[in-house]
Amino acid sequence: METKIIKIDTDISSSIKEAVELIKNSEVVVFPTETVYGIGANGLDREAVLKIFKIKNRPADNPLILHVFDKDWIYEYAVVKEKSMLNDLYDRFSPGPITFILDKKNIIPYETTGGLDSVAIRIPDHQIALSLIKDSKLPIAAPSANISGRPSATNIDMLKELFNKVPLIIDGGETQFGIESTVVDIRTYPLKVLRPGSVTIEELKKVVGRVEINNSFISPGTKYRHYKVSTTVCMFKNLNTAFDFVKNNNFIKPFFISRQKIDKFDVYNFNSYDELSSKIYRLLYECETKGYDLIMIEEPESKGIGFSILNRLQKASDYFIN
Ligand code: TXA
Ligand code: MG
Repeated sequence: METKIIKIDTDISSSIKEAVELIKNSEVVVFPTETVYGIGANGLDREAVLKIFKIKNRPADNPLILHVFDKDWIYEYAVVKEKSMLNDLYDRFSPGPITFILDKKNIIPYETTGGLDSVAIRIPDHQIALSLIKDSKLPIAAPSANISGRPSATNIDMLKELFNKVPLIIDGGETQFGIESTVVDIRTYPLKVLRPGSVTIEELKKVVGRVEINNSFISPGTKYRHYKVSTTVCMFKNLNTAFDFVKNNNFIKPFFISRQKIDKFDVYNFNSYDELSSKIYRLLYECETKGYDLIMIEEPESKGIGFSILNRLQKASDYFIN
């Protein structure tokens, strides 16, 4: 299958007509969101959804996020018991990088929810994604657009591994946040954070007071291998220990990701964790493409967006040193 790549001009609706038709016809489309790219299909159609699992090589028990247009659509597809909690979170964060876990309504097939009675729903803060949902008049089930286990894609280069596997990719440039949405189970109070993401724990607490964080993160997807590139990845705390690690293990072409200045090796210096989160998957991917044999990443502070990046790097890393 040859993949068509389309770019968007000022009139989004007319540019995405073909994508809308594909979604309506149970086909798969890759589209940008504000977090990462998604690989989407009609979330009400089991055959369409199964295509996503097949293309990604995704385990069938790892449920998908349903992307919808606004709050009315949430009520259409989910049973909301904690209405005021949803209202408060929605008013503060939606559209945006937050995903709500709610009890699903029958119209949603178990293929979409990985066999669960709950459903994950989010409203993406991206005009192309929103137009795709609105114009197709369908909730779009979409996991991140990558082969299972690989870093989520934040630009068209990273989507190369899906070329010839999907009929159409909408190229919307670099995504804004760079890591995925925060997944919160809001079926009971206090809510449970199942996956930390672009909305931080601190921000959530300001809105709802208490939140529960399960350190093993009980979202089904979190038990699988994630964000892996073929380059070895090592997270470090101390720069001198990191240099020793490179030397003692005979790595030849290491790449550092750090806030500190480093002379003797190639380095990406970041100034804030927001910046790091927007670049992290791309950096992993580019180090692999450019043939580095080691990626050394300075361990982020475990607060704010740093906490979410740390969660991803704990899965991406092969080594952890002090
Ligand atoms: O930012 C994002 O969330 C991106 C964009 C494309 O929207 N999507 C994304 O999807 O990251 P995915 O499939 O890569 O991650 C969804 C996560 C998985 O860890 C999955 O297990 C969890 O959400 N999830 C989905 N439905 C769930 C449910 N009913 N209960 C618990 N966790 C669920
Ligand atoms: Mg994913």
